[in-house]
Amino acid sequence: MAAVPLPLTTVDLRPPPYALDALEPHMSKETLEYHWGKHHRAYVDNLKKQIEGTELASQTLEDIVRATYNNGEPTAPFNNAAQAWNHEFFWLSMSPHGGKQPDGELMSLLKRDFGSYDNFVKEFKQAGATQFGSGWAWLTVADGKLMVEKSPNAINPLVFGHVPILVADVWEHAYYLDYQNRRPDYLTTFMNELVSWDAVAKRLQLALQES
Ligand SMILES: [Fe+2]
Repeated sequence: MAAVPLPLTTVDLRPPPYALDALEPHMSKETLEYHWGKHHRAYVDNLKKQIEGTELASQTLEDIVRATYNNGEPTAPFNNAAQAWNHEFFWLSMSPHGGKQPDGELMSLLKRDFGSYDNFVKEFKQAGATQFGSGWAWLTVADGKLMVEKSPNAINPLVFGHVPILVADVWEHAYYLDYQNRRPDYLTTFMNELVSWDAVAKRLQLALQES
């Protein structure tokens, strides 16, 4: 797997670190062709147009997300910037060899902060299933503790000073071709088959070093 770039750097459409059919049968090539090839591409293309010639053009994508959130009064490029960040982070949250369970410090902290691994999974899936409309379910680190969060539309916990280490896209475009309206089934498959715990463990280490 390619190195996980943190913070996500330039405003570019980078492909997932696996072939577009590599997540089948859990997430189809057709879903990736639309989701990465059309949706993610549009966020990046539109952001580039919005920031061209401005001081934002020389900033990292992560800094653009924070700057354009503008303390809760988002400026025009925020939605495209956050969606560009969120989608790249989402591709890097999955692996063709994903799923099963984490181990090591990550597992210890999940048990410490959620009572058990099963409780964490239940909370994460519940956050994704109950996010009304479009949005995201996250595992984040804040003040040295792991938290499950959900967010609407493009909002990213970075803007609240939390460090994301895992995300599931719960916009309908993430699952409708494969699961139709069955968002809970998509989230169960995401947790059981797709999560790259290696990537999450590396992000956890970086987050704990920074905090
Ligand atoms: Fe998406």
